[in-house]
Order: sequence, then C-alpha cells, then structure tokens
Amino acid sequence: RLLIIDFGSQVTQLIARRLRELNVYCEIHPYQGITMDFVRAMAPRAIIFSGGPDSVTREGSPRAPQEIFDLGVPILGICYGQQVMMEQLGGKVVSGDGTAEFGRAYVTPEGRLDLLAGWFDEGREQVWMSHGDHVSQIAPGFAVYGTSPNAPFAITADPARHFYAVQFHPEVHHTPNGRKLYENFVRLAGFSGDWTMGAYRDEAVANIRKQIGDKRVICALSGGVDSSVAAALIHEAVGDQLTCVFVDHGLLRQGEADEVVGMFRDHMNLQVIHAQEQDLFLDALEGVSDPETKRKTIGRLFIDVFQKYADQIDGAEFLAQGTLYPDVIESVSFSGGPSVTIKSHHNVGGLPEKMGLKLVEPLRELFKDEVRDLGRELGLPAHFIGRHPFPGPGLAIRCPGEITRDKLDILRKADAVYIDQIRKHGLYDEIWQAFVAILPVRTVGVMGDGRTYDYACALRAVTSVDGMTADYYPFSHEFLGETATRIINEVKGINRVTYDVTSKPPGTIEWE
Ligand code: XMP
Repeated sequence: RLLIIDFGSQVTQLIARRLRELNVYCEIHPYQGITMDFVRAMAPRAIIFSGGPDSVTREGSPRAPQEIFDLGVPILGICYGQQVMMEQLGGKVVSGDGTAEFGRAYVTPEGRLDLLAGWFDEGREQVWMSHGDHVSQIAPGFAVYGTSPNAPFAITADPARHFYAVQFHPEVHHTPNGRKLYENFVRLAGFSGDWTMGAYRDEAVANIRKQIGDKRVICALSGGVDSSVAAALIHEAVGDQLTCVFVDHGLLRQGEADEVVGMFRDHMNLQVIHAQEQDLFLDALEGVSDPETKRKTIGRLFIDVFQKYADQIDGAEFLAQGTLYPDVIESVSFSGGPSVTIKSHHNVGGLPEKMGLKLVEPLRELFKDEVRDLGRELGLPAHFIGRHPFPGPGLAIRCPGEITRDKLDILRKADAVYIDQIRKHGLYDEIWQAFVAILPVRTVGVMGDGRTYDYACALRAVTSVDGMTADYYPFSHEFLGETATRIINEVKGINRVTYDVTSKPPGTIEWE
C-alpha cells in the first residue's frame, strides 16, 4: 500500500485517483495524525507528500515526522510536499520574492531520471504550478532534473534514496503527462499494480461495518447513480440494518418509480419504503410558476416527508448519502464565497443536523466514473448505472410556468418517446443528459384535416463532463425530424417540437 500524507491541498484526492487508475492501493491520511507508530504499523511501500496551503517558512507549519526519511521507502513530494522535504532534509525554502507561479508553466529537462521516463519526448512538458514559496537551495544528496522559468528546482531528486520532489502538481488535468510520472514512481517503488475496484469494495464494506456497528441506517434513495450505489454498498455491509426511503413526488419520469423500487426491493432485496406523496407535492405546487418557489417548495416538503418516514424506523442513527468527491471540494472551496445563487439546489444537506443523525458517505473519495465502476462491481445493471442524471425537483423544472397533472402526463409521454429515439439511434451514452421540457404555450397546427391547438415542447440534449459547462448535442436533421414526427403522432397534447441549441453558459442545462 501507498501512504499519502495530506497537507491540505485541494487536489489531494486527485493523487489517489491517479493511483487507483494505476491499480495501486493507497490511503490518504491528514498530516496531524501521522506518527512514526502509525507509519510503521501501516508499513507503506511508498509515501507521497501532498501539496498544501501553508508556508513551510511559517513557524509551526506542518511537517512530516523526521524519521520517516530513514524508513528506506520511496517518497514523492508535491508542491508544499516538495518544500517540506527540502526543508526537513537540509535545503532552504523562501517565500514572497516575486517568484510565485500560478497556472500553466513549461518544464525543460536537466540530465536523466527514471522517474521521468516518457517525459520530454517533445522537448518540454506542460505542468500546472500553484505556489507562492519556492525552494532556494536543495537538500544535500539532491540534484535538479527539471526547471521552469520561475522554478529553478521544478524537479529535484535523490535517486539513490528514491526521494523525488516536484514543484508542480502532476495529478491535475493541466499536467497532461502527469500520469506517466506517477506510473514511473509506483514502478520504482515496486508496486505490481494489481489492486482493483473489487478490493476497494471490500475495504469500503469493512469501513462501513466498523462505522455503523449494529446501529440502523436510513437512506434517501433517488434512483440516481450516486444514491443507488451508496445504498447497494451499505446494504452489502450491513444488510437489513439499512432502510431506504424512495420519495415519489409525482414529478418522476414514466415508469421510474416502479423501475427503482422494483430493482432495489425485488431484485436486490433492500428494504425500501415507497413514499407515495404525489398529492402532497402537486397540491402544494398548484398555481406556482416561479422557479425558485417551485424548488424551495419541493425541497421543504421532501425534508418533511423524509423525516415522517424516517421517524417510523426505530433507532436510526445514521443517514447515508451518495456525496461524491467533487461535491466535497465544491462545498469546501466555495462555502462562504460571494457567489450568486443561480438555482436553489435540492438536497438533504440540512437533514442530519435537524434529525440528529450521523452521516455515512461511502463515496466521498470517488469520482462519478469510479462510482459507476463500483456500481458495476456491486452487480447493478449496466443500463441503470449509465442513466443520465435527473434533478431532485424532477419534472417540475422541466415544466416552465404552472404545473398541472395534465401537463406532467403529456411531458412524461413525450420524454419517453424522445429517450426511446435516442436509445434506438445508439446515442444515449454519448449524451450527458437529454430530456423534454413542455412549454407554457399552445400553438396552432393542422392534423388530418383538422385544426389543433396544443402545447409546444422543447427537446434538450447536452454533452458535458461535469454538468458545470455544457454544449448542445449536434443531432442530425433526420434524427430531429423523425423524433418530432413521432412525438406529435404518439403524444396527444403536443403539436409542435423545437430543439434547444443553447450551451451552458449562457444557458443552464435544465430550463428552470
Ligand atoms: P443546471 O440546470 O444548473 O444543471 O445547468 C446542472 C446539473 O445539475 C442537475 N440539477 C440538479 N440536481 N438537484 C439535483 O440533484 C437539483 O436541484 C438540480 N438542479 C439541476 C441538472 O439536471 C444537471 O445535471
């Protein structure tokens, strides 16, 4: 195993992710808890020092235990981690002399280093820098293997001891060849690279058992990938100590409630309470057309309903959530920031405190695609895992203007035809998210020999990596024409179909 000592960088989890991609097992531990006893007990085969926000020139700033350097295991220091290594091994670090570097930089090689096999084939490498301090004198035994205009010690190493220290962040996307560097490091440390998602699952199950003991857990199952995988994993760990609540707010897609409840209850044997609260939500939404009022109404009722059902479960002490790593960093780095609320997102974030529950978040370290891998590993069907995201407020935000039961019925039918078209044409997996929005206008049409006066709808399909930015999907005219014809023929109540070609920004993915 590999130990990552976390000095507080925003991207420490990305290091873990790069290592998992290389099938190497690693654990991240905050520097505060790292004692030599801990390290000896863990017996890591290699250690990585992460970056961090502090300055090693500040008195009392984080360090590693000095004896860690005598263990004889390879160590890679990144950014702050590099400076800690230099400082603790006898080099010097200075701050604030105008050589801070943030963003893209180019490193050119000096000499040859095994860690850099496959680097510099094109002469120089793009890297991502993010540092205020820099090393001014390297530690004894170290030599320089790469420089950038503002970092004369961008890459340093003591190859005999397998100590490597880099100023930049090889784990981020903007260091395009960074993966190679990690690959070389773990190869030099002697890892065979045979760790798998199956092993992750076993670890996670053991940790959940330890955390929960013989207590009860409840989970708000939405049918989305994250809560589904979290529920399946926790069920594997503690079986019937887990009860899921699936809240049906009447704003789900066609067949969705049956599909989700059927799969978890009948196929996977989870205890699932199907909360049928359609009337409660739809009555409260009657006459509401303001998007934020819709979102807030649904969010508030969701919490009430969840609490009502949870109260029926005796002795629940834990609340399970499918929080992913990107959610964790976003909430940390943006909390308290001056950002404007574009949309009030629907989540159960406030629940645990309100209900006095402790959180279980077994997916906190994972990224979306890793969650999908884990889901496959847990035996969730591929079509389920590959489903497009679906927002908590459901069809309410795809029905601009007033929501009526009639409109929702029409919308559900049109959406089903559209998704069927996308699947039939083999496009589903190329698209991040696709749906129909029913518009609050009626238009005149002619069908057969008669006049129609029905709703117009908009088709939406976008590509995206993370939902933060998006582009509309370039369907062929044939596809769009065929889909429009099918919707108008098969869905009574719609006589006009449009295609939304707005990217995000300036648009958002959902209509409200
Ligand atoms: P927007 O519309 O903001 O959506 O571009 C970005 C992504 O987030 C989803 N979304 C939500 N998901 N609760 C959720 O769980 C919400 O309140 C919510 N609003 C939007 C949206 O479907 C898209 O994937």
